[in-house]
Amino acid sequence: MNISNSKLQPVIAIANKSALLGEIILPGDKSISHRALMFGAIASGTTKVKGLLEGEDVLATANAMRQLGARITKTNNIYHIEGVGEKGLSKSQKTIDFGNAGTGVRLCMGLVSAYDFSTKFSGDASLSSRPMGRVLDPLKSIGVEVLEDNGGKLPITIRGAKQLEPINYQVPMASAQVKSAVLLAGLNSKHKTIVIEKIKTRDHTEKMLQGFGAKLSMENGENGAIIIEMEANPKLIAQDITVPGDPSSAAFAIVAATIIPNSDVLIKNTLMNPTRAGLIKTLIEMGANIQILNSHISGGEEIADVRVRYAKLKGVEVPAKRAPSMIDEYPILAVAAAFADGTTKMFGIGEMRVKETDRLALMAKGLKANGVDLVEGKDYLIINGASEIEGGAKIKAHLDHRIAMTFLVLGMVTKNPIEIDDASVIDTSYPSFIADFTDLGASFEVLEQL
Ligand code: S3P
Repeated sequence: MNISNSKLQPVIAIANKSALLGEIILPGDKSISHRALMFGAIASGTTKVKGLLEGEDVLATANAMRQLGARITKTNNIYHIEGVGEKGLSKSQKTIDFGNAGTGVRLCMGLVSAYDFSTKFSGDASLSSRPMGRVLDPLKSIGVEVLEDNGGKLPITIRGAKQLEPINYQVPMASAQVKSAVLLAGLNSKHKTIVIEKIKTRDHTEKMLQGFGAKLSMENGENGAIIIEMEANPKLIAQDITVPGDPSSAAFAIVAATIIPNSDVLIKNTLMNPTRAGLIKTLIEMGANIQILNSHISGGEEIADVRVRYAKLKGVEVPAKRAPSMIDEYPILAVAAAFADGTTKMFGIGEMRVKETDRLALMAKGLKANGVDLVEGKDYLIINGASEIEGGAKIKAHLDHRIAMTFLVLGMVTKNPIEIDDASVIDTSYPSFIADFTDLGASFEVLEQL
């Protein structure tokens, strides 16, 4: 199936009469793909990346790195990134358009922070509504000048500082993007960079920077805090990277196989980094039948195949401290919770409100419209499960790939089909979603373009 990106592409998920059966080979992890391109772009030598996610977000980052001076080509499915090395990045003559990519734009702001030139960033309607102040605040504190700031929203123009001030920054919210932006700025500082997070968030930046040769230490502070210290001016050397499968994409098949009777799905090559594994942990607590097979370490990351069979779930309480390890997975967890026996309470999920959309509000609204009983709070969601859900409501994706995929999975199990107004947004992170699920036995109807 070929879904066009140029227009709204409505798709209907048709309730599955049969089980999901078979194997999925996941697309590459989005977070690792962005970082592989960025770190390759600034390192000395040619970084080779296998399994890069070819989603729109990541391709936007590839273009951004080209605009800043790196050469990126693809041969035999391997991306070759000729890094700028000691020469450093060069000014982009044009605005850098990051499309829908929050990780791309926020990390890139950090990356150009120590360059004495200006860079203008823009994005699509979704990205332009997301808060950038959380990244600009720490960068301003070390000398970055903000030349254009639309109330902390894109388009934004910044000018890097010739010499960055030292920074010891406690990240106010649980955000790997903010942590990473500060660390990336610090790469070209003359001072040691210290970043403290209250709860550990995904640690791909730290791990990959170490792999490229930076000297970082991560220590446990009080009450679960993590103190990250990075030495100034590391020499980054090109690496060979194989990107593991994205657990945030695996999440859709994991939940679908769990709630569709008689399903049995093997999801190959899934990243199992503990900072990303909150959904699997939660589903196992709910009674899911999930087996972790063939666990191994590759490129410093834990990887495994995940076998999922249908299971009857029970409601649980998901603690707030687990939120960073599954922040992108709450929408699909909410679908699992809708079919569980009893009540599922998800606490401390206010960060969902500043994703590609206000996902907490959109989930609550969309689930309610499809007959799910729930309570939406400022930073929590309580779902009362049921054995059958009506479905039948139309859902607007609002440029949010995970909202589109979540409701397509819900539509596989509701009494009536669910229509998504635009499935082309799925290309942001999981271009083979429709094809993969069709292979497993799901049915979709692609409607005429509007
Ligand atoms: C990401 C961090 C998270 C996550 C996003 C990817 C990253 O965002 O939601 O999809 O790659 O660093 P926040 O840093 O805003 O929590």
